[in-house]
Amino acid sequence: MAAAGASLALLHFGFPLAYYAYLTRRRDLGVEAGPSYTPRVDVVLPTYMEAGKIASKLDEIYGQDYPRDKLRVIVVDGASPDGTAEAAERWAEAHRDMRVSVVREPARRGKGSALNDALRLADGEVVVVADADARWIGRSALRRAVSYLADPAVGAVTCVKSAERAGPAGAESAYRRFYDEVRIAESAVHSTPIFHGELAAFRRSLVESFPLDVGADDSWTALSIALRGYRAVAAPDVECVEAVPARGYFRWRVRRAQHLLQAFAKALPRIRGAPPRLRPVLAAEAHLHLLNPWLLAAGVALLAAAAALGSAPAALLLAAGAAATALRPYRAWMVMQAALMAAALRNLRSRELVWRKDEK
Ligand code: GDD
Ligand code: MN
Repeated sequence: MAAAGASLALLHFGFPLAYYAYLTRRRDLGVEAGPSYTPRVDVVLPTYMEAGKIASKLDEIYGQDYPRDKLRVIVVDGASPDGTAEAAERWAEAHRDMRVSVVREPARRGKGSALNDALRLADGEVVVVADADARWIGRSALRRAVSYLADPAVGAVTCVKSAERAGPAGAESAYRRFYDEVRIAESAVHSTPIFHGELAAFRRSLVESFPLDVGADDSWTALSIALRGYRAVAAPDVECVEAVPARGYFRWRVRRAQHLLQAFAKALPRIRGAPPRLRPVLAAEAHLHLLNPWLLAAGVALLAAAAALGSAPAALLLAAGAAATALRPYRAWMVMQAALMAAALRNLRSRELVWRKDEK
């Protein structure tokens, strides 16, 4: 029993390490970015309860070095009771030199349907989805992101991220650094299946609609584009800052994990038809999200049972595992495993497609 438990734990840790080794040294995206490529762009800002943030987000877009006559912003507000739509309208009144449309949904219906409302209005070649409460770094973020779409092989582009608040015990920033590296390496192989709502740019002709059954609208849309053979890449020179909630950190992580699991569960059955270079990435990420956490849980359960029955090596392994939580990356990894398992269980009850707005 102790040996079986140890083997499962070894598999759990060995798998991501092997995947990391496979990805390492892959950095060159092999994309022909066109810095002067400036097609017409619709920037979509879905909003719910963003009265305090919408004006500065619009300022940030206004300050971008993208040609303003090629730019249009579509704010879709989900009937926020805090005056978000009014704040956006006031901003638009005061900045008539940028095209801004404010759509008011009659009721809150979730981010996905807000994006679809915007898509019906969008008329540019590129649609960029952005969270209203997250920041882009620098004035060139939009132009750089769009420049990757100059390459006809690329269908979707996302940013890399840093966290505003470090998260409990630095967990958030510790795992972010590692995550960005993986996103870029996957993009170099073919595509990264994990996109970021802070900035997700899509070739509009490839987006028929945004999903209403998957919370991770960004990742699913990128995956569906990659499954059709176009590349979905993370741009190393496009950085976003995400806002991490002040309270309820774990609950927030669980909800986002729920949404990502939904995207992988929907993509996995289509893996046979995927472009060959995407297959190992999709298989590995689906495994890491859907299955790998449970190997750890099973391993720990077996080791605990063995230790209870008097196995000294099992007790020693468990103690070592507990002691290792002193290391930040290890602790961040454990938090993620717990979030993924909690997410899988919660998905059985509710998909959380309309979620609590956290204070950030
Ligand atoms: N119109 C509309 N209706 N907008 C909404 C709704 C809604 O019901 N719910 C959320 N939004 C807006 C928010 O105002 C924000 O601009 C954006 O959608 C993201 O929502 P947040 O509540 O800020 O979620 P987050 O910061 O955790 O977002 C991350 O995870 C989500 C999936 O769990 C981002 O990556 C999102 O893009 C992603 O969808
Ligand atoms: Mn947010």
